[in-house]
Amino acid sequence: MSIVVIGSANADLVIEVDRRPAGGETLIGSDLVITPGGKGANQAVAAGLLGADVAFVGCVGADGNGDLLRRSLESAGVRTAGMATADRPTGCALIVVTPDGENSIVVSPGANGRVTPDLMAEHEAEWSRAFIVVMQHEVPLETVTYMAAQCRERGVRFVLNAAPAADVPGDVLAACDPLVVNETEAALVVGVPADAAEPAELGRQLLDRGARSVVITLGAQGSLAVLPDGTVVTHPAERVTAVDTTGAGDAFVGAMAAALASGQNIEHALALGTRVAAVAVQRRGAQASYPRRDEL
Ligand code: RIB
Ligand code: NA
Repeated sequence: MSIVVIGSANADLVIEVDRRPAGGETLIGSDLVITPGGKGANQAVAAGLLGADVAFVGCVGADGNGDLLRRSLESAGVRTAGMATADRPTGCALIVVTPDGENSIVVSPGANGRVTPDLMAEHEAEWSRAFIVVMQHEVPLETVTYMAAQCRERGVRFVLNAAPAADVPGDVLAACDPLVVNETEAALVVGVPADAAEPAELGRQLLDRGARSVVITLGAQGSLAVLPDGTVVTHPAERVTAVDTTGAGDAFVGAMAAALASGQNIEHALALGTRVAAVAVQRRGAQASYPRRDEL
């Protein structure tokens, strides 16, 4: 069953540093690495490398970074017929990675801003027969809202990874099966301060607010799912040493979608997501760090 990922594609400009710079400070870092990223493209590549039937719908610029993204998607087996080219630069992420594997990111959306409801209507043939549509918050919110409504109407399973953290309108939440968030994003969508509630409680509150199901990623603590009947399923993380966590959440989402599209239940989807994210954090880059199925 097919997955259509609709979202962002970015060139990641990555420099390793000993620590984050303070305001007004100049730091010297490693050689620059330009590597394919963007939450949408990352999720599509993660699922494609696992052998899932995946198409990506998005937009890049008519530039070398756009070619980089197209090549990365295609070499992961992702179909790119739904990828448009705009008269704006390919999206770009300025990333610094510290020795603990943590990152700080600034995104310039560029061509991702052209992922509009009009573009969705133009590429309707790409997503209308999908089993799952997967989106994130790096394209305009009106596009997420449009696709949530389209998916509800047509009975296509809609998965939203509400990252970067942003509020999710009620009509979008009602389409999510599941909504995938980390703890910070979950608290923001519920509207409580971070750490105000246990993750399982946040998950139940998201269900009360209309989400059909919820997955909360807990970093080193693993992940949990709250099923439509309120049952909570948890999955532990693997103990690994991270060198670069960039795109690990996307690896989780892409792998989770691949498991769901192959008919597996949510427990198995959490397990595959966890396994793939654990491999991804041990290698540098986002898409460049994702495993093929035979590496697992
Ligand atoms: O989630 C990781 C991604 O966020 C990076 O690849 C970067 O492009 C930003 O979109
Ligand atoms: Na990585």
